[in-house]
Amino acid sequence: MNSSDILIETLRLRLRKLRDDDADALSEYRSHPEVARYQGWSSPVSREAAASDIREYGGTDPSAPGWFIFAIEIKTEGLLVGEVGVRLHDNKMQADMGYSLDPSHQGMGLATEAVTAVVSSYFERGVRRISADCDARNIRSVALLERVGFRFEGLRVANRYAKGEWIDELFFGLLSERRS
Ligand SMILES: CC(C)(COP(=O)(O)OP(=O)(O)OC[C@H]1O[C@@H](n2cnc3c(N)ncnc32)[C@H](O)[C@@H]1OP(=O)(O)O)[C@@H](O)C(=O)NCCC(=O)NCCS
Repeated sequence: MNSSDILIETLRLRLRKLRDDDADALSEYRSHPEVARYQGWSSPVSREAAASDIREYGGTDPSAPGWFIFAIEIKTEGLLVGEVGVRLHDNKMQADMGYSLDPSHQGMGLATEAVTAVVSSYFERGVRRISADCDARNIRSVALLERVGFRFEGLRVANRYAKGEWIDELFFGLLSERRS
């Protein structure tokens, strides 16, 4: 692996750029119905669709405005198990965040470890506010945001129409000064 692809290391994880050879793993965990349920995509996610996202995001820069995807890799196994996506706003002071973890690796605190590290790295870059929203039924996502320290900021009823239904959404935010 090119060492410049590794962006953050935590106790158990390497957070790195996506690579061409991630397409199979990406399509596999994104296709899991539990993972796709509250996300913008529908299951199954083909290998071609995964490869296309890798082409689109694998070369982007986490410090540049727009979406960047951190691949979550388990250090000991060298296995891609999920992702944290961050959209840095044009002003470079705000960001939006999303995440996914393969179900066989949930329940071990890996998402908490990854999201905490990514959030800290953006605060170190001078970002003041990170926002996250989720389907009100997505209790694992809510629990994750609360573990990392995000503040619940509100509920919008029927805020989005997706996959044939109106969705109530919860809004969360974290400010750099609340973190330190
Ligand atoms: C949201 C999502 C990433 C959360 O994953 P998760 O596995 O629940 O979160 P973590 O990896 O932080 O694990 C937390 C669990 O591990 C436990 N845990 C064990 N060791 C831990 C540690 N060192 N630190 C924190 N938690 C730990 C926690 O108690 C918690 O257990 P619980 O599920 O029984 O309450 C995952 O559910 C997912 O990928 N969902 C599908 C995609 C999605 O909906 N994304 C959000 C769109 S808004």
